[in-house]
Amino acid sequence: EWIRSLQNHLLGWYDEVKRDLPWRKDQDPYKIWVSEIMLQQTRVDTVIPYYLRFMEKFPTVRDLAEADEDDVIKAWEGLGYYSRARNLQAAAKEVCERHGGVVPRDPASISRLKGIGPYTAGAILSIAYNLRVPAVDGNVMRVMSRWFVLKEDVTKVSTRRLLEELDLALIPEDRPGDFNQALMELGALVCTPIHPACDSCPVRQECKARALGIQHELPVKKKA
Ligand code: ADE
Repeated sequence: EWIRSLQNHLLGWYDEVKRDLPWRKDQDPYKIWVSEIMLQQTRVDTVIPYYLRFMEKFPTVRDLAEADEDDVIKAWEGLGYYSRARNLQAAAKEVCERHGGVVPRDPASISRLKGIGPYTAGAILSIAYNLRVPAVDGNVMRVMSRWFVLKEDVTKVSTRRLLEELDLALIPEDRPGDFNQALMELGALVCTPIHPACDSCPVRQECKARALGIQHELPVKKKA
């Protein structure tokens, strides 16, 4: 049916074209976490060298927790939004003090850490721990609102919740992390805000907006 072919087409495409990004080399939750925080307000190409240097300086959550704050800020210099770095270190300390140095694997505990909202929690839990948890950011909302011709305002929290529920229904049992990353990859490379590359889209057959020719009208965002 529809869900199965969507999963197969999306994951097959991802296996073929996925970018060889340094944080995709292993499933260490700390590494996934750092990469997701860096990627929040910064482009992939910019993040890569920062990520590699950060991992050399602070290879484990304990190294980060015990580091001098100035060294952490220095490693972040140029990425901007320094509260991300301060929150990350505060959360690393918390992980060491309250969770034995292991990034918690349940949504409630991980969401209590500083700087970890619903998207980041979902990304870490699905990618590092292979748990079926949605990770819905702006890119994913755009892709999914096109798949389902969802005309709700994506700036509303209720719309995001709805998309998280829909996403959860689509995540396959065996590859939650790959499925979420494939969605991000599709939004970054194919299902772009303007001029989406529908002709080369792996899920063009499953896309309701494409069938109606209204992909350009989605997602709906209320004007500021
Ligand atoms: N943007 C946010 N998370 C990402 C990831 N895991 N891979 C690529 N781009 C991303």
